[in-house]
Amino acid sequence: MSIPTEIFTSVKPLCPLFGTCGGCQYQDIPYEEELIRKEAILKELLTKELNLPKEVFESIMPSPGSYYYRNRLDLTLRKRNNGERQMGFMLPGTQRLQEVTACPIARREINDFLPVLKAEAVRKLPEDYRVANLVVRVGDEGRVFWGGIGRRSLRMKEEDYFWTTVKGRKIFYALDTFFQANLSILERIVAKIEGLIDWRKDTAFLDLYSGVGLFGIALADRAKEVVMIEECRDSVTLARFNVSHHRLAHVKILEGKVETHLPEVLTEWRARPCVALIDPPRGGLAGSAIEVLGEAKGLESLFYLSCSPESLTRDLKHLARVGWQVRKIIPFDFFPRTRHLETLVWLARS
Ligand SMILES: C[S@@+](CC[C@H](N)C(=O)[O-])C[C@H]1O[C@@H](n2cnc3c(N)ncnc32)[C@H](O)[C@@H]1O
Repeated sequence: MSIPTEIFTSVKPLCPLFGTCGGCQYQDIPYEEELIRKEAILKELLTKELNLPKEVFESIMPSPGSYYYRNRLDLTLRKRNNGERQMGFMLPGTQRLQEVTACPIARREINDFLPVLKAEAVRKLPEDYRVANLVVRVGDEGRVFWGGIGRRSLRMKEEDYFWTTVKGRKIFYALDTFFQANLSILERIVAKIEGLIDWRKDTAFLDLYSGVGLFGIALADRAKEVVMIEECRDSVTLARFNVSHHRLAHVKILEGKVETHLPEVLTEWRARPCVALIDPPRGGLAGSAIEVLGEAKGLESLFYLSCSPESLTRDLKHLARVGWQVRKIIPFDFFPRTRHLETLVWLARS
């Protein structure tokens, strides 16, 4: 990174574990400077590797709040040899557990719940268990649920599903599904996707790696038809619940791999203007998915939402090889105070 670090002002970290737990890297500088730094790191990486003109870069979109935004924490509960129970984060690259009683990037409801979580988890931990991985989550309405001890402990009843509202629609998710960790920034990213392209009356929208259907549902009114593709069964269950809750008859869900289902959908949609959003896991796209996207001649626009600048850079190189050109790159700060950065890329046919 070419920005000299001495130009940054230093501030007192909010968390006493800053520098120890390994989760946050930027609590010691003002949020505005963190944004400048993240933007510069991304620009440097992508420019160096992809030879992009500077006009493609848009300013980083900040998170509405820089603390108390995470709707999920993953904690470890461990029984020590002396019988003491500790709950906290495993320190990266070690077998050491850092006891945690508060985490200022997690939502306040989660922080308030941590003492109850520890008491309940200790009570539930079977005598012969030494370690349990706990998941604790909260929705817009502030209800907190946790799981991680015992089979099916992450399963939720339909009436308990968490929800957040995006574009006036409730999107339901659960303890056992992927869902974005910072709910406060979701309206911003959906508005950006909506505003970048010209949606026609007959536009078809593909929500690939769709999880519980966040983008397909938020953008459902923009498209004549929507297809979601997702391989995780638990997420597909929630996607079906979401679609049926909103009675979206023009939204179809395909369970399975993007690289398997995409060719058949594109053949069916040959004659239609078609837009796709890909939001793969951290590792990025499989080689076969790149090839399918290269052959997808009917696709007019492709949005790539990535949580890993490294795999994004690699995939953009491959996508350029198969005919996709970068139009815009917009970083979104989904994870203030941490090194992580989400990036939205808009691509069109070259
Ligand atoms: C980063 S999440 C995005 C989910 C969703 N777009 C959202 O914002 O909530 C990636 C999703 O891709 C799914 N997935 C991973 N590999 C896949 C594949 N080859 N085909 C289909 N889905 C896949 C995962 O189960 C996960 O739900």
